[in-house]
Amino acid sequence: MKAFAAVDVIRAKRDGGALSDEQIRWVVDAYTRGEVAEEQMAALAMAVFLRGMDARETATWTGAMIDSGSRLSLRVDRPTVDKHSTGGVGDKITLPLAPLVASCGAAVPQLSGRGLGHTGGTLDKLESIPGWRAALSVGEITAQLNSVGAVICAATSGLAPADRKLYALRDVTGTVESVPLIASSIMSKKIAEGSAGLVLDVKTGSGAFMKSREQALELARTLVEIGSAHGVATTALLTDMNTPLGSAVGNAVEVAEAVEVLQGGGPADVVELTVALAREMLALADISVDPARVLASGEAYETWCRMITAQGGDPAAPLPQPGHVTVFAAPSSGYLSALDAYAVGVAAWRLGAGRARKEDPVQHAAGVRCLAKPGDRVVAGEPLLELHTDTPDAVPAALEALSDAVQITDTPPEPGNLILHRTD
Ligand code: URA
Repeated sequence: MKAFAAVDVIRAKRDGGALSDEQIRWVVDAYTRGEVAEEQMAALAMAVFLRGMDARETATWTGAMIDSGSRLSLRVDRPTVDKHSTGGVGDKITLPLAPLVASCGAAVPQLSGRGLGHTGGTLDKLESIPGWRAALSVGEITAQLNSVGAVICAATSGLAPADRKLYALRDVTGTVESVPLIASSIMSKKIAEGSAGLVLDVKTGSGAFMKSREQALELARTLVEIGSAHGVATTALLTDMNTPLGSAVGNAVEVAEAVEVLQGGGPADVVELTVALAREMLALADISVDPARVLASGEAYETWCRMITAQGGDPAAPLPQPGHVTVFAAPSSGYLSALDAYAVGVAAWRLGAGRARKEDPVQHAAGVRCLAKPGDRVVAGEPLLELHTDTPDAVPAALEALSDAVQITDTPPEPGNLILHRTD
């Protein structure tokens, strides 16, 4: 491969030029090998953040990240289909969705990540289940897909290693919210994972990386284009992330809520999105089974128990409980017209549900429980939120994050849609 000087690549993008395919392949490969230093990649990521990349550059960057590792070859006897969310607050949908879609007849290889910024990570949530193990070998993943139909685990070390390094670097350099960087990050992992179909849940709103609907639509289109170009049948739903999904935000609290959904209860928005994404996944897998019926039948809960048990977890074990609970009371009476997702996400993160540095552990019991949803009537002084933590010193910073999170009005807010758009 032709070599370049990293500083020339950085300057080219800094000055608004398009990088050549050779430059992109070299810089991604050299960064993965440690030849391009972290500070050089940080500068390049910022230049990409500010200047963007066109469709050709994004496709080449994605290909280079896939080629930085190896592709999984899953030998599974049913159609494989996966879903990926661009990251939200209270977004535990993967937990009920994977066993639900498996119960309908597809195989779901859900290789997941940890929290990024104020958004939670699926693996951090599942690790609150006593004994549950995130790291599986390719052999274990394949065996579990064939026996249970669903696996949620950490990406294997060979899968898009360039993304693993770059993802952690972007988290600490303010370069997460970039369409080409998010699209190439997500699609490199998903294409390398080898699933035949992929449904993307592209979040928009205060708790999403893409705050505006236009940006989120551009991200959805970019993701679908990359998937189709690589032969992966891909569709995307654009969904609202202005208020947390469901009532629970954190780790163990979100697992508990996912189990409620699998047992036929749970918040209406979590059920709605789980079923909508399941329908999209089953359509890609060409399976005509009604996921709402399967969810109500309890079969998906049985698959969940088998999936957790297969990874060493005890689905019946009590989940960790917080050492301290602080109540945030409604400041006035009326209708809750807004509960800001970003603020609640930051509060949960500060309470210990997320990490300040990538090597930090998370607190399994930390998080926020929302006792009312937008549209509900609230009474001054009555509990609105519960703040859970094992480190009460964290509570003042969490309360500060929540200072403008709540709006209460005399009239109810206009009901909004959760699912805003579909791209295929
Ligand atoms: N999820 C990813 O996998 N990558 C990003 O960059 C953002 C969300």
